[in-house]
Order: sequence, then C-alpha cells, then structure tokens
Amino acid sequence: MVEFTLPAHAKVLPGKKVAAAPGAKRKKVFKIYRWNQEDGQNPRLDEYELDLDKFGPMMLDALIHIKNEIDSTVTFRRSCREGICGSCAMNIDGLNTLACTKPIEEVKGDVCIHPLPHLPVVKDLVPDVNHIFAQLALIKPWLQTQSPAPPDSERLQSPEDRAKLDGLYECILCFCCSTSCPSYWWNPERYLGPAILLQAYRWLADSRDEMAGERLDALEDPFRLYRCHQIMNCTRTCPKGLNPAKAIVEIKKLMVARQG
Ligand code: SF4
Ligand code: SF4
Ligand code: FES
Repeated sequence: MVEFTLPAHAKVLPGKKVAAAPGAKRKKVFKIYRWNQEDGQNPRLDEYELDLDKFGPMMLDALIHIKNEIDSTVTFRRSCREGICGSCAMNIDGLNTLACTKPIEEVKGDVCIHPLPHLPVVKDLVPDVNHIFAQLALIKPWLQTQSPAPPDSERLQSPEDRAKLDGLYECILCFCCSTSCPSYWWNPERYLGPAILLQAYRWLADSRDEMAGERLDALEDPFRLYRCHQIMNCTRTCPKGLNPAKAIVEIKKLMVARQG
C-alpha cells in the first residue's frame, strides 16, 4: 500500500506559549504560524494569549499588538489597514481573507492564523507572490489601443460601458481567491487562476481597449483558462465580494462567440 507522509521538516510543531499580562479581563489566544527559512527549524504554531482591551477590533490590530508589544520577530505584510492594498491577505480560521477587515469577534474560541495556502512562504505569514505577479504581467493589465488618442481629450466611455467594469475594477490583487482554488493549487505553473483571469476580463470588458483578439489568443490554451471547473471557492472567499468565477465564465463565452 502506498503511504503518504509529510517530510519531517514540513511538519508544523507546537511553538512557544505567551500568557496575557496579569489583570487581563477579556483574553483570547492567537495561534500564529511561524517559519524562518534561515534557522533551519520546522515551522511552528506560537500561541499568544492577548488582552482584547489593549488594541482594536480587527485581526490586524492583534498582529500589530503582538509585533509592537510582545514579539517583534512576528512577520507579516500590511499597509493600508482598510482593505485597499491587499497586502494583509492571510488564512484566518481556515478562510483566506484580509486581516485588516476581519473582525476578531467573528472567530469564536482560539484564532488560528496561517499564510495564504499553496504559495511558498518567505517568512511567517508572508507568502512569495513573485510567480503570481509574473502571471499578472502575462495578461498585460493595462489599456492597449491601436487608434490614435483624441488630441484634446481622454478616451471617453459612456456611463453604460463604464458600468461594465463594476465588480472588476475593485479587485485589489490580494490573491485570496487564487490561493483558495484547488485547480490553481494543482497547476500553479500553467493555470492562471481566478485573480489573474478576473483581471484579464477587466480589460476584455473595457470598451476603450482595442486588443480583445490578442488578449483572447493569449488565453486560448488548455491550461491558462480552461482549468477552472467552477468549484466557486474563489467567489466564496473574495473579501471584496467580487465574483471571479463569473468573470471566467464571461471569458469562456467570448471564446465561443468569436468562433462564430
Ligand atoms: S470557480 Fe474556477 S477559479 Fe474559482 S475556485 Fe473554482 S476552479 Fe478555481
Ligand atoms: S478577486 Fe477578490 S480575492 Fe481575488 S484577488 Fe481580487 S480582491 Fe482578492
Ligand atoms: S492592510 Fe491593506 S488590505 Fe489589509
């Protein structure tokens, strides 16, 4: 019988436990994934018991409190603190989401925080997003035109055409969706995944863009587009309430339409 086991160095071991300061009234335990490729040790889950009266209501507030007051080595990305930059995406209580917009009170019991799944880890909660950004570059996420620009105005759009970008332009490239997609887990080298495909459709849907044919040619591939099996994890997890699975369906419809 075939036996599957994790390599010894991949096992997540129990880490240290830090108790809340004496006198804390509202206590909650945060279990944080820790890994530093430079120390040669296994990943571990460190537990920090925090006093909820000492910081704000979001998961990111807890992480910043740990880093500022308890353990400065805890490593994570964040910037805007308001769900705009996408950098604080991580897996909280089993769901990919933004730490800055996820209320602590939504998790009953201990909070478990891991990096986004199925991406290489740089350190602790920081995933390596180089490959996924290289995939973004592949779809040329900018306006491409062939006709000369109007000499004295911008390239204008009707309100109706502008409305077609709603539900697309709001994507903040947090990659919660792609890293929740089983098809992307198994084929990250060749399947573009929901985040990149939603971006691809954002430019296909733009009335000002004049390179739809070339954009579709670039997606006409058994893996880049067609690995989506409509499992819908992507749409369920998007912290901005977008629907990448629908965008993928729209691209497939464009593919069919151009075949006549
Ligand atoms: S709908 Fe497609 S892109 Fe979204 S999770 Fe499922 S397979 Fe992945
Ligand atoms: S579609 Fe949603 S989950 Fe995916 S990258 Fe954009 S904002 Fe993040
Ligand atoms: S810190 Fe910018 S989205 Fe969370």
